[in-house]
Amino acid sequence: MTVDLLLGLQWGDEGKGKIVDVLTSKYDIIARFQGGPNAGHTLEFDGIKHVLRTIPSGIFHKTAINIIGNGVVIDPVVFQKELEGLEKFNMDVKSKLLISRKAHLILPTHRLLDAASEASKGKAKIGSTLKGIGPTYMDKTGRNGIRVGDIELGDFKERYRALADKHEAMIAFYDVDMQYNLQEMEAEFFEAVEVLKTLQFIDSEEYLNNAMKAGKSILAEGAQGSLLDIDFGTYPFVTSSNTTAAGACTGLGIAPNKVKDVFGIFKAYTTRVGSGPFPTELFDEDGQTMARVGNEFGAVTGRPRRCGWLDLVALKYAVQVNGVTQLFMMKGDVLSGFDTLKVCTGYKYKGEVISHLPYNIEEENVTPIFIEKKGWQADLTGMTKYDELPVELKEYIEFIEKEVEVPIKVVSVGPDRTQTILK
Ligand code: GDP
Ligand code: IMO
Ligand code: MG
Repeated sequence: MTVDLLLGLQWGDEGKGKIVDVLTSKYDIIARFQGGPNAGHTLEFDGIKHVLRTIPSGIFHKTAINIIGNGVVIDPVVFQKELEGLEKFNMDVKSKLLISRKAHLILPTHRLLDAASEASKGKAKIGSTLKGIGPTYMDKTGRNGIRVGDIELGDFKERYRALADKHEAMIAFYDVDMQYNLQEMEAEFFEAVEVLKTLQFIDSEEYLNNAMKAGKSILAEGAQGSLLDIDFGTYPFVTSSNTTAAGACTGLGIAPNKVKDVFGIFKAYTTRVGSGPFPTELFDEDGQTMARVGNEFGAVTGRPRRCGWLDLVALKYAVQVNGVTQLFMMKGDVLSGFDTLKVCTGYKYKGEVISHLPYNIEEENVTPIFIEKKGWQADLTGMTKYDELPVELKEYIEFIEKEVEVPIKVVSVGPDRTQTILK
């Protein structure tokens, strides 16, 4: 058996949670491969909205096993809250959630370091979610990190202390004004570690490869989006993991030749939360309409998301880096009511017109070139079949398919599980 991947092609929040939930009935295992509680994956069904942070979006299905892979970074404190939130719905999470021993832990001081680093950057700040992601991955690659498996060792507390003491010295080095009570944060952390310990820790690469041999189907769930990838995103305004397809191999221990389909998910327009370049960003009424109708506020931080037109230059780049085999278009319903839609098909870059993503897409280097498409007025949210969609939307879809050269197989027309149209 092989593995399919589902990942975001823009700057995150494309609707990954919703689609993983929709697809879960087709898979035996859902596995998160990178990122941490900077992610907020929203699912809606039966009139209830759930936001998942570290737990894979297959958790609401009875049979699927959910795995938090080695590439993920886990904050026990956030995890405990997430678990308790799900248990309120009488869900038996523990029997179907497995955690990689090789996943790294986010310590309270990682969160503090994130805040200190951002504060020291002033206007140049990344706009981090401040969940400690960057400092935790730094400790991972710097070979100083603490992993889930270390919780089972006798000297976990000593390891913790040594690293936290080092972090405190680093926080002092930043010399920024920060108020915190580390003792309280540590008490909360160790209580949460006890909760984490009640879950099943596994050697997830072994588990997943054995599952494949036994004929089980696996869907790997990405977090963030391709343009936030540490290598291929809009560096330094990125997250600290590989959000692209290769990250699923390193984040789960799955060989590249085991990957079959790569589902690339994108919004019918573009959003970004946090700082960094965004060539098609709108500062006018159209952008405000997208934000209002699309309810574009971060699922984790509540920050307003910046909105703009669809950027095909960036989309093609993400499709290429990931080897996307099928596209899923989200939030088509949000564009209902516009007379005219714009789509970016190229950039003016240093006096030339280019159709690839250059090294530097800062505003002063790149001017987007737009073409116009006719909008549609109909409310899509009650539609269930592709044939029902307005002709202008079908033309919009066909135009994207032609430009990007990958078929759009799913059109999402609302946040609910049921508002999903297969093409
Ligand atoms: P993720 O991080 O990729 O899982 O996406 P988020 O959950 O952060 O953000 C997507 C938001 O859009 C959530 O509030 C979803 O409920 C919502 N959503 C998903 N698909 C659609 C859609 O097709 N239409 C509308 N209107 N909302 C959607
Ligand atoms: P999901 O999985 C959107 C953004 C932050 C910031 C940058 C770095 O829900 O799509 P970090 O916390 O990693 O230091 O933040 O990345 N960011 C996201 N934006 N969706 C996300 O996740 C994000 N995770 C991080 O806003 O600009
Ligand atoms: Mg999100």
